[in-house]
Order: sequence, then structure tokens, then C-alpha cells
Amino acid sequence: MDVELRDIHKTFGAVRANIGINLKVPAGTIQGILGENGAGKSTLMKILSGFIRADCGEILLDGKQVIINSPADAIRYGVGMLHQDPLDFPPMRIIDNFILGQSGGMFFNRAAATRDLKKLADEFGFQLDPNAFIDTLTVGERQQLEILRLLWLGASVLIFDEPTTGISATQKQKLFAALEILAGQGKTDMSEADQTAVSQWAANVHARIREAAARANLPPEATAKCSAASGA
Ligand SMILES: Nc1ncnc2c1ncn2[C@@H]1O[C@H](COP(=O)(O)OP(=O)(O)OP(=O)(O)O)[C@@H](O)[C@H]1O
Ligand SMILES: [Mg+2]
Repeated sequence: MDVELRDIHKTFGAVRANIGINLKVPAGTIQGILGENGAGKSTLMKILSGFIRADCGEILLDGKQVIINSPADAIRYGVGMLHQDPLDFPPMRIIDNFILGQSGGMFFNRAAATRDLKKLADEFGFQLDPNAFIDTLTVGERQQLEILRLLWLGASVLIFDEPTTGISATQKQKLFAALEILAGQGKTDMSEADQTAVSQWAANVHARIREAAARANLPPEATAKCSAASGA
């Protein structure tokens, strides 16, 4: 799915996290987003995935403007985000975590879901035992489970926030291979990470969020324009 962000602004009190960010990501590509600490990368990705709302700006999916108010809205539009620390529930079994978010929740057909999970895991070369408990998994395996869960929920745009932090070299290779498979299926991956990791897999580093230091010197008109546009 093609993704476009237009003139996204977000402030947290006095902190101007995103000022007029524009970004176009074509379907079937892997894009890296670079910027120094605090440059606003996570903020931008959380806006796209419905975890926070922009002050103003537009999100277009396949050329159509959409309003994303929550992560559930985002997943309905096919956008899923993996956080650095996956949002899961340690006392659960893998299969129960996988089913989370599916309408019907825990009452969903577990046998069918187990088959789907195994099929997806095979496709990406992930070894996940559906009956194992989440708290026995490594960070990399939790990430693998979250990728499969979001795909199963219908995500066609996957956002990874610093996905190579805390995972093993083997898991990194599996992750990069999975990204290649996803891009081959026409899915879009966006990732924020350190420069070395990004350059290992991203075909393009599509966006470089402006440096926080430079932004601190920007005049306040940018956010004032946003307030006027949003009627705030
Ligand atoms: N919920 C929040 N409340 C207040 N300030 C916030 C919030 N989220 C982010 N910020 C601030 O917004 C700015 C951008 O943060 P963000 O997390 O988007 O940066 P980043 O580019 O992802 O940085 P990093 O490389 O450290 O992950 C920072 O100054 C941060 O402290
Ligand atoms: Mg971040």
C-alpha cells in the first residue's frame, strides 16, 4: 500500500517533535527513517499507526485521505506498528497472544488460528511453538510473533521502531529476510533504526528527519501555521 504523510505537525507542550514532515513511501518497498535522538521519528510513526494524533497534517493511503484515531483504526486500514518493546502479555501462550485483536478474541477458533500461525511462521522461517508461554521467548522471538500477528490481522504496512535493538545476529538475519519477503509481496515496511542497521536492509533511506539541533533554531511560524490550519 502506498503511504503518504503531508505536512505533519506535532508538539508536546513546548517541544516541537514534528514540524511539517512530508514523506512518501511506495508499496512494496523497505524504507528507513533516520534522525538523531529526539528528532521525532517515533512520534511520526506513532501518528501513522494511531497511537498519537497529529496536531495537523494529512495521512493518505493508496492516495486516499484517512483519519486514524487509534491503533485499531490503523489496523483496519492495514497499518501495524511493532514497538521496540512489544506490547504483549507475558502470562499468555503464544497462540492466545496471536489471537488478540481478532474479533471474537479468545473465543476465536483456536485450531484454525494455530494452523494459520504455523503456516505464517513457516513462510518466514520463524520457529514458534503455539503452546509455549510468551515469557519464555527472547525479544527477537516476541518480535517475530508480533510481525505474524499484525500480518494475520491484515497489515500491509508494517512499521518497526528500532527493530534490531536487543536481538541476536541470527534473528537480525531472519528479520531482514522477512522484510525482503514482505516487500516481495507488495507490503510496505518502514523502520526507524540506527544508520548501520538501516543501511543493511533498506533499499532507500527515504526520509531523514531533520536534526533536532537545527529544528530548535527554527522560527515558531511553522507551528503557528499548523494551529491556524487546524482551527485550534
Ligand atoms: N508523549 C510525549 N510527551 C512529551 N514529549 C514527548 C513525548 N513523546 C515524545 N516527546 C518528545 O518529542 C521529541 C521527539 O521524540 P521521538 O521519540 O519522536 O524522537 P525519536 O527521533 O524517536 O528519538 P530516539 O532516536 O531517541 O528514539 C523528543 O524531544 C521527546 O522527548
Ligand atoms: Mg524513537
